[in-house]
Amino acid sequence: MSTELNVLTPEDTAPCCGPGCCDDTAAEAAEPATQTAAATPQTDAAIKAAVREKYAQIAVGAASSCCDSSACCGDDISMIGDAYDGVEGYVAEADLSLGCGLPTEYANLQPGHTVLDLGAGAGLDAFVARRIVGEEGRVLGLDMTQEMVDKARANAQTLGYDNVDFYLGDIEAMPFDEGTVDVVISNCVLNLVPDKKAAFAEMYRVLKPGGHFCVSDIVYQGQMPEAVKRSAELYVGCVAGAMQREAYLGALQEAGFAEVEVVKGRVIDIPDEALQQVLGPAEREALRQSGSAVLSVTVYGVKR
Ligand SMILES: C[S@@+](CC[C@H](N)C(=O)[O-])C[C@H]1O[C@@H](n2cnc3c(N)ncnc32)[C@H](O)[C@@H]1O
Repeated sequence: MSTELNVLTPEDTAPCCGPGCCDDTAAEAAEPATQTAAATPQTDAAIKAAVREKYAQIAVGAASSCCDSSACCGDDISMIGDAYDGVEGYVAEADLSLGCGLPTEYANLQPGHTVLDLGAGAGLDAFVARRIVGEEGRVLGLDMTQEMVDKARANAQTLGYDNVDFYLGDIEAMPFDEGTVDVVISNCVLNLVPDKKAAFAEMYRVLKPGGHFCVSDIVYQGQMPEAVKRSAELYVGCVAGAMQREAYLGALQEAGFAEVEVVKGRVIDIPDEALQQVLGPAEREALRQSGSAVLSVTVYGVKR
């Protein structure tokens, strides 16, 4: 499998990342450090509660991942995700512009496979997977936000799929038996999970021997300022919970996975509109000069 690394320019990417990113009052904040401290979730439970609350709002339409204006999201690219143009099985109602890649593209899905989509949201990638695994296969979606599970189930019902099921549960403690899944996929979720070691161990546990995963996620290279990492808004919008790329790949190997490989990656240029919520002008410039970067990666690995 070849490794691609494309640089995403500001023209290509949305100048914000996630719910709340385009809140005018936050964007105009003159004292970012004070705002950050007030918004920082302190514990794993608090982080999960904040994540759940944000995605519940998105699921019921009370918040969006981006602004409506053209200054935010481009027409053909959603948030920081890949375009699904022409992808068979794409369902517009399931696309809430929350992804950061296209994991099914590299997941080597085959007819008859049992596929598990972690943090399935409204079912975007689960339905693409269903198109490939067919009626003989099975797709399971897992999400900890009830409103997302409800939306995904409603979508599945509308589509008439009886082999696509969505479950409420936590990736850190999955409600599935050991060795029951052929392929695990996920799109822009694992960065949100506080205990990634537990998440990777659970991925390993539920996969059959010889099974594999293909996940799109956010990681970073270099050093990311604590202010960025800790910002609740950016966390929910996929940045502050991200791990360093090498540590992420190492943790997957420590969980037992072999042949761990970044099959696609690109740099995400976070625009000032998002960074100014947590960093002052000098800090933003220092960040830009440092070579540190936020990356979207799609990672593949095998359970031997
Ligand atoms: C950025 S959205 C991505 C949704 C979907 N994969 C997509 O691309 O449209 C993250 C989703 O992961 C879910 N999530 C976050 N942390 C989770 C966890 N620990 N366990 C299960 N679901 C989680 C959220 O509820 C949310 O629906």
